[in-house]
Amino acid sequence: MASFSSSSTSVITVLLLLLPVLLAPPASAVPVLAACKTVGGGSTYFDVTFCLEALGSVGGGGLYRDLAAAAVGLLAANATSTEAKIGRQLGESGVKIKAGDAALARPLRSCLSLYGGIVHGGPACAAAVKGGKFGDATAILEKAAAAAKECEDGFRRSNAASPLTAEDDDAFKLAKLGVALLGFA
Ligand SMILES: *[C@@H]1O[C@H](CO)[C@@H](O)[C@H](O)[C@H]1NC(C)=O
Repeated sequence: MASFSSSSTSVITVLLLLLPVLLAPPASAVPVLAACKTVGGGSTYFDVTFCLEALGSVGGGGLYRDLAAAAVGLLAANATSTEAKIGRQLGESGVKIKAGDAALARPLRSCLSLYGGIVHGGPACAAAVKGGKFGDATAILEKAAAAAKECEDGFRRSNAASPLTAEDDDAFKLAKLGVALLGFA
């Protein structure tokens, strides 16, 4: 009797634990505006306008995970084009940067490697979002946000004007947008 009642207690406990899952409505598409108000309104990293501009290409909306996937794709496209821009600035053989411009060349080289890392993490991040491994995806995005910030900080440390302020800002915010969207996925 004691063992019966303890096992039925376990069954009830399991059912109670499952209740929120069983009662949760099926995930449904969120309009971009609503999603951006949700994640942008509470963010210190980006605002609703940035979110709307970034996700404008997604169209009507989607599940939070789909919107996060879109942010991950945008970040990858951004980082790829930034990496190419840095490559052009450094020049194939350093021709664009004069010998005396070490103050600029050093942080640029560091940024080239940092953006290489962001680009490299793109496919794994996209796969993690697709596979529902949101924690893994978030970790990659946080690393990307830190890399963009690190790139910008490098110019400050070298007392050089950053030629990548806009790119660093976009990459940082896109990564943080992805993190915020995943928080609701
Ligand atoms: C980078 O992201 C910003 C912000 O979403 C966007 O305006 C810009 O077009 C993107 N650039 C590329 C090359 O993807």
